[in-house]
Amino acid sequence: MKKYNVAVVGANGAVGEEILTVLSEIDFPLNKLVPLASARSVGKTVEYNGEELPIIELTEDVFAEHEIEIALFSAGGSVSAAFAPAAVKAGAVVIDNTSHYRMDEDVPLVVPEVNPEDIAKWKQTGIIANPNCSTIQMVQALKPLDEAYDLVRVDVATYQATSGAGKSAMEELVTQMQDFFAFKLDESEHKAFNQQIALNVIPQIDVFLDNDYTKEEMKMVNETTKIMHKEIALSATCVRVPVLRGHSEALTLTFDSEVSATEAREILRKAPNIVIVDEPSEALYPMPTTCVDMNETFVGRIREDNYSKNMLHMFVVADNLRVGAATNAVRIAQKWVEMEGEA
Ligand SMILES: NC(=O)c1ccc[n+]([C@@H]2O[C@H](COP(=O)([O-])OP(=O)(O)OC[C@H]3O[C@@H](n4cnc5c(N)ncnc54)[C@H](OP(=O)(O)O)[C@@H]3O)[C@@H](O)[C@H]2O)c1
Repeated sequence: MKKYNVAVVGANGAVGEEILTVLSEIDFPLNKLVPLASARSVGKTVEYNGEELPIIELTEDVFAEHEIEIALFSAGGSVSAAFAPAAVKAGAVVIDNTSHYRMDEDVPLVVPEVNPEDIAKWKQTGIIANPNCSTIQMVQALKPLDEAYDLVRVDVATYQATSGAGKSAMEELVTQMQDFFAFKLDESEHKAFNQQIALNVIPQIDVFLDNDYTKEEMKMVNETTKIMHKEIALSATCVRVPVLRGHSEALTLTFDSEVSATEAREILRKAPNIVIVDEPSEALYPMPTTCVDMNETFVGRIREDNYSKNMLHMFVVADNLRVGAATNAVRIAQKWVEMEGEA
């Protein structure tokens, strides 16, 4: 079987490190792994499969120099904008974790459990986009239910971990908690978030737009339509919570037909990479602590609406650094490799 030269751009970031871990855990056909970051990180190393690999500076020429065939980008939108074209020019397929290319008409936006067929469009630009973390775990649960009952509306409230904003944001939560125990939380700085995150919840992720929704909320709306190839009425409230890892989502789903919670539970049990944790009498339901370091999406609290026969409620939790970023990107790469092998 052919083996590939793979570059990870942003290799020492929260997502990049997770990509290295996921690649080391699976049987990926890897010939050479090239970790890339900014000049600031040259001299540092990243761990891959028990080995310390030196970080190489990201430049336009690095992709050709190392004959990169797959480039996984997670170093911010501006870095993807500046360097993804160079990777494509060097002959690599780019799998981009940032929001930069997601809504570009010619760039497929892929969750392999939902729209793997869209990967075939990668040749148009050489780029495949990875959706927003909150969108990925949600559409994995929506797709099988849409097929069964015809989904017409989604109302979602998210409870998003600090790691969704990168390593520095995780550190900010830890530092503020330490300051709290040292009785100096009042003096604690906040840079990653515009409010104190420790002992708080912040109903704002990213900037507000003209329609009073945030950019994060509108990403969920627009990306869901693109991935599911269907206009679904969707309203989101995205909230940052003082959790290090694992995004949770309370979903209220409205269908075109009557639904049963028992049947929906069985449909989701059979869906790829979904795990049902739903025994309320035993206090079993998904939580961020359930999902850390896991590649599955956990669904529980599945119940019918008190008033409408066409509505269901549920709670969906996944590791945002894995399912919401690294694992999805690596699954796209695996599928791309499979499709290239068939071509
Ligand atoms: N965290 C999540 O759950 C999540 C989920 C989906 C998508 N994403 C997206 O993935 C991207 C990275 O997020 P993250 O959470 O991993 O951030 P992070 O922890 O802050 O890491 C950023 C990484 O990018 C590198 N980088 C920054 N500027 C660079 C430059 N000019 N040239 C080369 N490398 C540069 C950094 O290396 P240096 O230390 O050398 O600067 C570091 O390796 C973001 O666009 C984010 O929106 C994140």
